[in-house]
Amino acid sequence: MTTHKILVAYTTNAGTTTQAAQAVSEGLSSNGVQVEVRRLEEVTDLSPYTAVVIGAPMIMGWHRAATKFIKQHRDALSRVPVAYFFMARSLTQTGETQVEGVPLIIDPKLSQPPQQADRLSYRERYATVGNYLRPVLKATPQVKPVSAGFFGGRLDLHRLKLWQKLFVLFIIQAQPGGSINLQFIREWAANLCTTLLAGKVT
Ligand SMILES: Cc1cc2nc3c(=O)[nH]c(=O)nc-3n(C[C@H](O)[C@H](O)[C@H](O)COP(=O)(O)O)c2cc1C
Repeated sequence: MTTHKILVAYTTNAGTTTQAAQAVSEGLSSNGVQVEVRRLEEVTDLSPYTAVVIGAPMIMGWHRAATKFIKQHRDALSRVPVAYFFMARSLTQTGETQVEGVPLIIDPKLSQPPQQADRLSYRERYATVGNYLRPVLKATPQVKPVSAGFFGGRLDLHRLKLWQKLFVLFIIQAQPGGSINLQFIREWAANLCTTLLAGKVT
């Protein structure tokens, strides 16, 4: 009998993703499974884990540490079920339910309808799930997540450097503030657990 242990590995810029990772852990643990939460930077060996959840904020693309981690561990990650979650402040509602076969779960409070559904502005195109997720899938085609969750994060302007403020206010036009829907994240993780425990489908 396999003893399951799920790793929740995350990185953060300003702390929101730490809270989200904790909520993921709570959701998974509600199924009675063993879960470990670790900063990506602390993880060197994936062999103890039967499934892995990787979370990071959007910081001009998914946080570089997350993509780097997946590249570094792509062989191990291609052998176990994997799920990704993204913290963000700006997401255009497109009605997509999957990107390249990866099922999406989107926090309803995060996504906003475009001004004109048939003609997205530059900012609206930038903030689509496809534009966020596709580069990650392209960088590591060996690793196909069983789910990708997009959750609303928080933006504290006073914690940012000037160039970061300019980017979020003028390019993605994200609203400062925001609250994390921890219950939504817990539910995603609780529902995800069965798929993660089912093992790798090849
Ligand atoms: C420099 C910078 C760039 C960001 N880029 C995006 C982005 O492209 N899309 C988005 O939805 N949110 C973006 N955000 C918002 C963050 O993803 C959001 O605030 C998140 O909750 C931060 O997570 P953290 O607190 O774990 O660092 C950006 C934030 C910063 C500081």
